[in-house]
Amino acid sequence: MPHAPLITLNDGIQIPQLGLGVWQLDDDQAYASSVAALKAGYRHIDTAMIYGNEAGVGRAVAESELARDEIFITTKLWNTDQGYDSTLRAFDASMAKLGLEQLDLYLIHWALPKKNAYRETWKAFVRLQEEGRVRSIGVSNFHADHLQHIIDETGVTPSVNQIELHPDFAQVELAKFCKGLNIVTESWSPLGQGGALLSQPVLSQIAEKHGKSAAQVILRWHIQNQHVVIPRSSNPERIAQNLDVFDFVLDDQDLQAIAHIPQTGRLGPNPETFDMGA
Ligand code: A2P
Repeated sequence: MPHAPLITLNDGIQIPQLGLGVWQLDDDQAYASSVAALKAGYRHIDTAMIYGNEAGVGRAVAESELARDEIFITTKLWNTDQGYDSTLRAFDASMAKLGLEQLDLYLIHWALPKKNAYRETWKAFVRLQEEGRVRSIGVSNFHADHLQHIIDETGVTPSVNQIELHPDFAQVELAKFCKGLNIVTESWSPLGQGGALLSQPVLSQIAEKHGKSAAQVILRWHIQNQHVVIPRSSNPERIAQNLDVFDFVLDDQDLQAIAHIPQTGRLGPNPETFDMGA
């Protein structure tokens, strides 16, 4: 059974480099996908309050024969809950749904620069970590200036920045900036949401060469770029396939070819302007 390697974050906490994403799965689907993933060897599941499926993920963890400390769980604070006190309340609500005593990773879901509450929100995150209620704290969809502001305000650097990232939206500059601060980049929609990217001829060629699928080539590209990656699937075979990316290596020629895939841009919202629920 394949297992994802562990990456050590800047606070010493270890995160499995590949996990299951559950965005757009309802509670029952998230439960079923989480069960299939744990059975296939996954040890990391990434949910969020706004996905509405924290309870399904929590149920899968509770029913698993694995010890709690063998599974890494991430959830995210939704936009409406930003602010110091509201963050502390939202954390309790997420933990009740997950049914967990301690969370592995808590992320601010979006920066919401116009709301301008992410500094206060981050202070509450620091408190939650100090109290031991969450092992590691990070952010999602933050740009360089948002990252710098919360670090300046608290002296605490997020452990990860989870951003939209796939070979046709490679986010090279932001990932480099994060690396400079020892912040791990996590890729959301790593497969380009299963759309046009998967049928890029260059990926099929590389896939054929290695006896793998185009999706596996993309996931391997994330792994070799040292990103944490959280592909979503509700199909047990594809869930298993997506973890089976640790027995081959993309060579320089493969990486060069992938680097030449045209940059078509983001599929999701722009963090600078996104203000849903603000
Ligand atoms: P499905 O749930 O039917 O497997 P992303 O993680 O980039 O958001 O992509 C998720 C999408 O990609 C889902 O629609 C999912 O569909 C599809 N997908 C996930 N894994 C694979 C795979 N190995 N091959 C093809 N499509 C995949």
